[in-house]
Amino acid sequence: MSVDRETVLSIEHISKSFSGVQVLDDVSFGIRRGEIMGLIGENGAGKSTLIKIISGIYQPTSGNLALDGKEAAIPDYITAKALGVALVPQEFNLINSLAVFENIFLGNEIRQRSGLLDKQKMRERSSRQLEELKMPVRVNQLISDLSVAEKQMVEISKALMLRARILIMDEPTTTLTSREVETLFGIMRDLKAQGVTIIFVSHKLGEIKTICDRVTVLRDGKLISVDDVASVNEEDIARKMVGRSNFQQLFPPKLPRSEVEVVLEAENITVEGLLKNVSFSLRKGEVLGFAGLVGSGRTELAESVMGLRSARGTIRLDGKPVSIKKAADAVGHRMAYLSEDRQGKGIVQGFNLPQNITLISLKKYLQKGLGLINKKAELSATAEYVASFKIAAASPKMQLRYLSGGNQQKVYLSRWLDTSPAVLILDEPTRGIDVSAKQEIYEFIHQLAESGISCLVISSELEEIIGLASRVYVMREGKIAGCLEGDHINKEEIMFHATGIKGSN
Ligand SMILES: Nc1ncnc2c1ncn2[C@@H]1O[C@H](COP(=O)(O)OP(=O)(O)OP(=O)(O)O)[C@@H](O)[C@H]1O
Ligand SMILES: [Mg+2]
Repeated sequence: MSVDRETVLSIEHISKSFSGVQVLDDVSFGIRRGEIMGLIGENGAGKSTLIKIISGIYQPTSGNLALDGKEAAIPDYITAKALGVALVPQEFNLINSLAVFENIFLGNEIRQRSGLLDKQKMRERSSRQLEELKMPVRVNQLISDLSVAEKQMVEISKALMLRARILIMDEPTTTLTSREVETLFGIMRDLKAQGVTIIFVSHKLGEIKTICDRVTVLRDGKLISVDDVASVNEEDIARKMVGRSNFQQLFPPKLPRSEVEVVLEAENITVEGLLKNVSFSLRKGEVLGFAGLVGSGRTELAESVMGLRSARGTIRLDGKPVSIKKAADAVGHRMAYLSEDRQGKGIVQGFNLPQNITLISLKKYLQKGLGLINKKAELSATAEYVASFKIAAASPKMQLRYLSGGNQQKVYLSRWLDTSPAVLILDEPTRGIDVSAKQEIYEFIHQLAESGISCLVISSELEEIIGLASRVYVMREGKIAGCLEGDHINKEEIMFHATGIKGSN
């Protein structure tokens, strides 16, 4: 491959197989100094695998990498760091029991002359970095106390602290709201101006168009194209990703106004310092949206309703007050909650597909009188979810840790559907899901609602809330700032309530 002077990293005939299954197939392309290169492809296309090869976490089965035109061996992540390559991984790599600043400097600690850790300096630098990201995270907070978006920002800070010349970001924006994404983009533009090269993975085509100079498309482990973003539109990119051109509408038509029958009613839900007198109602068979900025209290509200957080206030189901003190109480009332934190509170990495899917609904699979699990029934249920969500896994026996991020999310969603809930709370349901799979999940949520299941969708993607919900509550600073219906469900009104500022985006 010809390498021009500008090329800082060349990927040369890289292939990768895992136990005989090929996930990257002869991928070659170059990345230029100071450019932002988008990397896009369906769930399981091989993006994270390629990135892990560049950052030394995996070794290619064949092919090699070159930095500045010279072949480079990157046997491990430490070497990658030394060569100036830093990674913001898709799945977080943070230690829950350590403070934010300790995580930011993990493996890269600043020491005093005596050899002791210079905690003061590490705190100061971390705090400056977090300020730059405009994140209200305190450096002494424990990771376990952070929301997913906050953890994401810590992961980003950790990589930025390395002052790398090649910064790789694997879906850094999945849980950030448009405001935080803007801040991140500002930082990426600054880095680019300083000559840093960035590889940016996202399923959001709009983001790729906004921030990237060029975009590389992978499909089934093969390189499909490398284009200047100026020369392709979102539809072109999507077409290359999925390899077909017939696209349906992303969102199914909105359901007619739902029945008035209220299924779930929450009144004056209060959690000290987080939620203040939040009241809302969820009707039978509706898709109810919850919008708001990160930190506005949406997840805390869902956790309170599900008994995962102690809160004051009243919850009524079908008009009757219920006591929900722990998650099992909620599940007993046929309530389900897909957490935004699939990695921390969701899937079990070491379990295979059926084990993950039937984790909560296991009773259904017990054989009468025998106390044994009907494996056949488990497998056939699994096969149905695999088919309806097109879950890409070499075998259902595969441990979840070996599935791509988007496919793990689909398994997690299947688990909750398998509980046959009456009330389904979905917190960032399409986190990490590719464009075409999103369509299937939206369609599915609509079918659930039509069949009478009440769905509450929390999402930081405005488009998703606007496209799906028939009513939308907007939260701000732990309170309900507004409830929108019909034509009022639009970007401007949602942002107005979310920020309290007119004309903001
Ligand atoms: N360690 C592993 N062992 C076996 N298979 C693996 C391993 N890591 C990844 N795979 C498989 O490789 C394929 C590509 O996965 P990868 O994580 O690269 O996809 P991706 O493009 O990042 O997808 P997503 O958008 O869902 O994150 C998947 O089918 C996945 O199951
Ligand atoms: Mg990935």
